[in-house]
Amino acid sequence: MKKETIAIRYGYQKDNNRTMNIPIYQTTAYEYESIESAAKLFNLEEEGNIYTRIGNPTTDILEKRLAKLENGVAGLVVASGMSAIFYSIINLVKSGDEVLLSDKLYGGTITLLTHALKPFGIKYRYFDVHTNFEHLITPQTKAIIFESVANPALSVADFDMITSIANNYKIVTICDNTIATPFGCSPIDLGVDIVVHSVSKYIVGNGSAIGGAIIESKTLKEKLKNYDYFNTPDDSYHQIVYLDKFEAPFTARARLSLLRDFGAVISPFNSWLLLQGIETLSLRIKQHSKTAKKIAKFLQKEGFIVNYPTLKSDKNYKYAKKYLKYAGGIVSFDVGEFQKAKNIVKNLKLFSLVTNIGDSKSIVTHPASTTHQQLNKKELQKAGVSEGLIRLSVGLENSKDLINDLKRAIH
Ligand SMILES: Cc1ncc(COP(=O)(O)O)c(C=O)c1O
Repeated sequence: MKKETIAIRYGYQKDNNRTMNIPIYQTTAYEYESIESAAKLFNLEEEGNIYTRIGNPTTDILEKRLAKLENGVAGLVVASGMSAIFYSIINLVKSGDEVLLSDKLYGGTITLLTHALKPFGIKYRYFDVHTNFEHLITPQTKAIIFESVANPALSVADFDMITSIANNYKIVTICDNTIATPFGCSPIDLGVDIVVHSVSKYIVGNGSAIGGAIIESKTLKEKLKNYDYFNTPDDSYHQIVYLDKFEAPFTARARLSLLRDFGAVISPFNSWLLLQGIETLSLRIKQHSKTAKKIAKFLQKEGFIVNYPTLKSDKNYKYAKKYLKYAGGIVSFDVGEFQKAKNIVKNLKLFSLVTNIGDSKSIVTHPASTTHQQLNKKELQKAGVSEGLIRLSVGLENSKDLINDLKRAIH
């Protein structure tokens, strides 16, 4: 099945009602057949629905569809992109372990590692997605996290360089594929072990639901042989060893242990909204990318420094050509000073001042005062966020209307 068909058809088997659209199983719990059957479910001897914090039939369809789209073996959908990133990291590391963190990431991922996880003894080091980082690896390095297309610097990761180093040292790679989407980039085909998404962006496509996804590759299992959480018995489940019991041990532990105990569950209604969105993702991402490129070219003609990876003049062009089919709808440009950025943002009418991306409605953001506000000067510089940087999330409106809005705001 091709990706366009997977996005519309995969994972849904009609029940007796034969509803064409996927039903919303808006339920907290499920009635067990007997006390014996309930005990078997809880002891993982039988598969089935236990409680929506751990699994739900509507969410299950979304998980299967996303995993298939990313060419993974299994997927887990959670309450937000941040919880997906959080779970994928803490499913690997313990106190004293280190995470290699791309210096060009969404601000929330940076603060998660640099602040939130610090009191728990999880350490980090920054690396650059285009420079050999072998010297940063220590016996404690357990995860390498980066974005396929980074928000908002729009740098494209050098997948071959990153995955070959990671594989040499048997370290797990996590790639956030939110901006490129499974239609723009296929990280698992490029050698990545785990893909994460904020599905709140392009996947839902209209800003109506927050959610996150974790997708496990087939190759991950081999690497997990070196990770304690997977190769030693879990006391909380009568000594099961995830690697022995499950085809997709990473997803199984994230669901059965992390969702059970931390509980960042998605609502079934949000899963359903996401399933509505995903059906049109292939068409939308094509159009977002086409209009974004037109806008990037317009801004270049206006004399600004513009970041858009598929522009021939962009410093990421060679990586975009090698690894991306579409670059998505995010364009960032530097107008030099804070006051000038402020004026342009204020004068825009069709671009709404919002901290979100991937909506059908065009959005403008000033990262230095919003999404990346908590970073220090050095981190801002590394993340490619200057005071004059404006980020556009180009929507699906007519490109001429969007360009006219920008023209008016700039002059
Ligand atoms: C690339 C990227 N990853 C993760 C996140 C966090 O996702 P969420 O807002 O769904 O928690 C965002 C949010 O903007 C993002 O842009």
